[in-house]
Amino acid sequence: MNPVLAELHDKARAVLDPVHYDFFAGGVGDEVVLAENEAAFLRLALLPRVLRGKKVSDAFPVLISPTAFHKLAHPDGELATARAAAGTILVSSMASTVPIADVVAAATGPVWFQLYVQPDPEVTQALVRRAERAGCTALVVTVDSPVFGRHRRDIAHGFHDLPAGLAAENMRDLHGVPGLRKIEMSAFSWEDIDRLRSMTSLPLWVKGVLHPADAVLAVAHGVAGIVVSNHGGRQLDLTPAAVEALPGVVDAVAGRVPVVLDGGVRSGGDIALALALGASAVGIGRPVLWGLAADGEAGVRRVLDVLRDEYEHVLAMCGGELTRDMVVVRGTGVSGWR
Ligand code: FNR
Repeated sequence: MNPVLAELHDKARAVLDPVHYDFFAGGVGDEVVLAENEAAFLRLALLPRVLRGKKVSDAFPVLISPTAFHKLAHPDGELATARAAAGTILVSSMASTVPIADVVAAATGPVWFQLYVQPDPEVTQALVRRAERAGCTALVVTVDSPVFGRHRRDIAHGFHDLPAGLAAENMRDLHGVPGLRKIEMSAFSWEDIDRLRSMTSLPLWVKGVLHPADAVLAVAHGVAGIVVSNHGGRQLDLTPAAVEALPGVVDAVAGRVPVVLDGGVRSGGDIALALALGASAVGIGRPVLWGLAADGEAGVRRVLDVLRDEYEHVLAMCGGELTRDMVVVRGTGVSGWR
């Protein structure tokens, strides 16, 4: 791992309350998927192309994935993340400890709002309006969480609630009802996606698709894009690594909407591999939290700078273009993934 990222992770672990470190770091069940998300990238290699004489584009295909409760990591919370997010898209969690309007005001680039559809449709609608009024430019509906994941580390610590003074601020005073609402998970359906689409003109993404058939349905239901994700190994400890599910979704979508990959992306090389397999961009979860905990806004900036620098270097080495035929599964010598 890049020593800067390793150092930020070590510092985060040292400064965080161990209960909060485990909340950020942990996964569901035996944490098989958590480990696999990273390990799967290490099983992949790239056959670089040569003599292409191409200038490397300066696009940085990275989003900041939505993660909850940034004030557990740093007192500036999501404000620090938003300030550092320049050059990326910040997908702000509905479970942020700063209200979405303040997150957008602090950001210098686009902010998308991540939504968990709530059992009470009025609450869901009020959250959508809140995101629209704040100036978010897309909605990302998380679809892999019909129930909460069971995180053994949190259960062992008895971690259920935010400390006094911190709250999921977007859940405050919704649709004229004063006070804080609890975030709930719900098993909603494609009809709810249709309803959401008719409720807002914001582009609607779905996050947490792994099965190609669901990707086909998502396109049929008019989504603007798909995030291939297993929630960073926090929901079902039986899925493949996120990157292993990527090619199937990319093939099913066949270029009709962009596909983003998140889970286990820890280097510029990982970004390049995901793009070679057909992702339009990647999302970064935990490394951003480690940067935030270690050094607030500056720490998040360092994480993004390292990833940008590494990615541009790999891209230059590969002739400026990344395609699936360049991907080799280590130990097989077979290119093209499958
Ligand atoms: C998450 N994730 C997440 N996803 C989401 O849609 N809404 C949320 O509120 C959260 N909250 C959250 C908290 C924490 C502590 C983590 C680690 C993750 C999942 C997140 O968006 C993303 O899918 C993963 O974090 C990507 O994996 P990596 O980069 O952490 O390996």
